[in-house]
Amino acid sequence: MEEKKIRILGIAGSLRKDSYNKMLLKEVVRLAAPDSAIDIFDIKKIPLYNQDLEENLPQAVINLKKRIRESDAILFVTPEYNYSIPGVLKNVIDWGSRPYGDNTWDKKPVAIMGASVGGFGTIRAQAHLRQTFLFTNMFPINAELYVSKANEKFDSSGHLIEDEIRAKIISLIQSLIDWTKKLKD
Ligand code: FNR
Repeated sequence: MEEKKIRILGIAGSLRKDSYNKMLLKEVVRLAAPDSAIDIFDIKKIPLYNQDLEENLPQAVINLKKRIRESDAILFVTPEYNYSIPGVLKNVIDWGSRPYGDNTWDKKPVAIMGASVGGFGTIRAQAHLRQTFLFTNMFPINAELYVSKANEKFDSSGHLIEDEIRAKIISLIQSLIDWTKKLKD
């Protein structure tokens, strides 16, 4: 019998049209292993978190929570803003964890990658993102992928120009798939 594909929900933490992190996520989709399906969730319609809205959740948040629930694993592709994660990404994490008692991230296997124009490729943002996995009870893989000097790493059609990074993507996604299967057993 054919094994079911591992469904990975990919979330890029940038609203920018020409975002390097969005490009990186699209590259992940192109490189997806045959036993996985990577689905992109666009965060642009998610409103700013406000506890007053929890009684009547905004439709965009209902959609986010449904897509998280339907996925087997999560992939965050984060920029680095002032040595941390962008507010728009934290906002998505906060909404996904609410209302209290309905934390949609609970027990989700998760991986991170990120691209920045700086020389450290989001290393500090990724450390902060990992911290949010404690309270949301997500299960991260112990693998890392940093794309530094992102402005030099993509061609004019948004494709990665370095095979070495593509190989790292394939390896990280394979680790996430293996981890997800292990947790399901
Ligand atoms: C940045 N950038 C940045 N880069 C970095 O390596 N470390 C950092 O701390 C910061 N801080 C930072 C703060 C703010 C407010 C902005 C707007 C930018 C630069 C960042 O890497 C660059 O803008 C990327 O292009 C952002 O990712 P996207 O939007 O291309 O995906």
